[in-house]
Amino acid sequence: MATALIILGAGMGTRMNSDLPKVLHPIAGAPMLVHAMKSGMALAPERTVIVAGQGAKAVETAARDHDPEVQIVVQTEQLGTAHAVAQASDALSGFTGDAIVLYGDTPFIRPETLQAMAAARARHDIVVLGFQAADPGRYGRLIMAGDKLNRIVEFKDATKTERAVSLCNSGVVAADAQTLFDLVAAVGNDNAAGEYYLTDIVGIATARGLSATVVTCDEAETLGINSRAELAAAEALFQAQARKAAMADGVTLTAPETVYFAHDTVIGRDSTVEPNVVFGPGVTIESGAMIRAFSHLEGCHVSRGAVVGPFARLRPGAELAENVKVGNFVEIKNAVLDEGAKVNHLSYIGDAAVGAQANIGAGTITCNYDGVFKHHTTIGAAAFIGSNTMLVAPVTIGKGAMTGSGSVITRDVGAGDLAVARAKQDNKAGFAARFFAKLRAQKNKGA
Ligand code: UD1
Ligand code: CA
Repeated sequence: MATALIILGAGMGTRMNSDLPKVLHPIAGAPMLVHAMKSGMALAPERTVIVAGQGAKAVETAARDHDPEVQIVVQTEQLGTAHAVAQASDALSGFTGDAIVLYGDTPFIRPETLQAMAAARARHDIVVLGFQAADPGRYGRLIMAGDKLNRIVEFKDATKTERAVSLCNSGVVAADAQTLFDLVAAVGNDNAAGEYYLTDIVGIATARGLSATVVTCDEAETLGINSRAELAAAEALFQAQARKAAMADGVTLTAPETVYFAHDTVIGRDSTVEPNVVFGPGVTIESGAMIRAFSHLEGCHVSRGAVVGPFARLRPGAELAENVKVGNFVEIKNAVLDEGAKVNHLSYIGDAAVGAQANIGAGTITCNYDGVFKHHTTIGAAAFIGSNTMLVAPVTIGKGAMTGSGSVITRDVGAGDLAVARAKQDNKAGFAARFFAKLRAQKNKGA
């Protein structure tokens, strides 16, 4: 069945104390909204509608960045969760299929959970995701009659007996889209909060003879983020899960608690990640690679058998082929390093192509930026770049060519040639001895 996601994210997020809309605060390098979108992907949604409020433009940009097809609707006044869902009805007019309501500030719902909800929809008109709360606090309470859900009562409106119920509402709801909008249109705001509660649709549905049920999940999945402290806790939870998953996938983490993953990090089997490595978004590492301590990687690809670090930085567009070596204090940006190339010490390689087996000496820099434009450097296979070479781009070093240490290379070097571009050495016999003797004599006279 076709599915549409409706992701609510118009709430003020007051407790974040931030100019950034709450749903754009990142976890593992992606806005929490994107985590919710990714959970929803489990249902292969045909449509995704995001209900935004303050900062809708920024929310739109971030959401489109992840999925260009999403629709954004704006809820100008936050009158409650039912009112928020109603904002999506025009965007989904004519849509036939199920709608699933997710919250943009609830990033950890597992795909399996949403699939269980979709399966339960075969037997019920409305499926609500619930959980047994360790501390039910202010959550909405799910009032059951056998395996059927009768209604949901918000904490503020609940009686003492109802408050004693520990089965709570996560907020995630699935129903036929047009049924959902019909029900939502019937919700009023005569309650303790004066809000249009999405939760009221269950009572209205059962009164109409529709059936509702609950699918439960672990409380941790329903974790919502309202403050910076909760954001930090969510980050910690994500990292703990990511580390466990990486190890289960056959990756060695020598000190797992010191490695930080992004939401989309992919690492192949039998790779090793040493302590204090940070992965930004967009990193893929093939099997059998070695990421040594204190390295920072983002937007890059590392192939089988490559060794990175310690203390290396791979920036977006770094492409390391098999058995490449990138050593300490080396930064690589937007550069392709072919098989077996070595950049072992203290270098910057940016906007470049480095041929197979080329050896880049310590301290080499591709001078790619003239203050206005970026320029490209090409280094041929098996070239030998002497230590401390400045490669002033655009420039090409031919296959098997060589540059003398300390050269500033501004012109192309042909295959197999040697380029030396530095002042000629001039030795002055005895000069140093005479010079120091003179200085010392001056010092003694003065004392
Ligand atoms: C809601 C549920 C409650 C449930 C809890 C789980 C209702 C009435 N209550 O309560 O039963 O236990 O979530 O966390 O639904 N939002 C909008 N527009 C609005 C109001 C809210 O987009 O006008 C969005 C918020 O950004 C947030 C989500 O809806 O992502 C939930 O809103 P929130 O105010 O946090 O609901 P709760 O009071 O926590
Ligand atoms: Ca909430």
